[in-house]
Amino acid sequence: MSEVTQPQTTFADQKRKTVETAEFTADGRYMRKVRSFVLRTGRLSEYQKNAMNNYWADFGLEYQDTPFDFNAIYGNDNPVVLEIGFGMGTSLVEMAKNNPQRNYLGIEVHTPGVGACVALAVQEKITNLRVICHDAMEILRDSIADNSLGGLQLFFPDPWQKSKHHKRRIVQPEFIRLIQQKLKCGGFIHMATDWQNYAEHMLETLQNSAGLANQSPTGDYIPRPDFRPLTKFEQRGQKLGHGVWDLYFIYR
Ligand SMILES: C[S@@+](CC[C@H](N)C(=O)[O-])C[C@H]1O[C@@H](n2cnc3c(N)ncnc32)[C@H](O)[C@@H]1O
Repeated sequence: MSEVTQPQTTFADQKRKTVETAEFTADGRYMRKVRSFVLRTGRLSEYQKNAMNNYWADFGLEYQDTPFDFNAIYGNDNPVVLEIGFGMGTSLVEMAKNNPQRNYLGIEVHTPGVGACVALAVQEKITNLRVICHDAMEILRDSIADNSLGGLQLFFPDPWQKSKHHKRRIVQPEFIRLIQQKLKCGGFIHMATDWQNYAEHMLETLQNSAGLANQSPTGDYIPRPDFRPLTKFEQRGQKLGHGVWDLYFIYR
């Protein structure tokens, strides 16, 4: 009888399957959660898989139920900027490269995007970036210490356009409260979206949060800043003729 060779399961394949394990309680019961994402089943390319399998030890962090020690992770005490939902990571890697005086922490649930980001970081020889493949809400709640972040970036979060889906939008009063808890005094919140209705919702939510100072001279949005590289999602929107709204607040 001929032997059947099982396809080899690599670390990258396992990561694809484990990103949502926190849907279950410790005793195995299913927990219903309103999440800001739907996991797409995109396969990792060989390039992305190799990056995950060979460089996760250098760039990857895992969910943990105690706060990360950023000084130990980055080997310095530079400010840590968190980016939630970095997509394929092109703009995040560019920002990390352009700002060596900052540390960057990216969170993304889409595994091919995480693989692409790691591959690019290796190619660009980036040392001030770490990535996590997990739900950002759980990382914020459990793995990030209070008063520990220098800034938060949220670029083109899923707009969840239909009213019945608005509850899935990541920007909610509780989300902003959690971010404020994690920011150091003087830390920033920078958001951008190409969906006007979401921009208005972001503005209202941020303005209603005590302790946040809007940096817009007009009291609403800021002009698109040069230091924010064009993201992949934004490029797609530009081709469709979408506008862009940037919001920039400081936590006092
Ligand atoms: C519309 S895409 C934008 C990606 C990228 N920022 C860009 O502009 O090209 C939004 C991304 O956020 C990610 N995302 C949504 N909710 C998330 C969460 N709770 N934790 C981590 N990533 C999340 C999605 O997987 C998706 O890749």
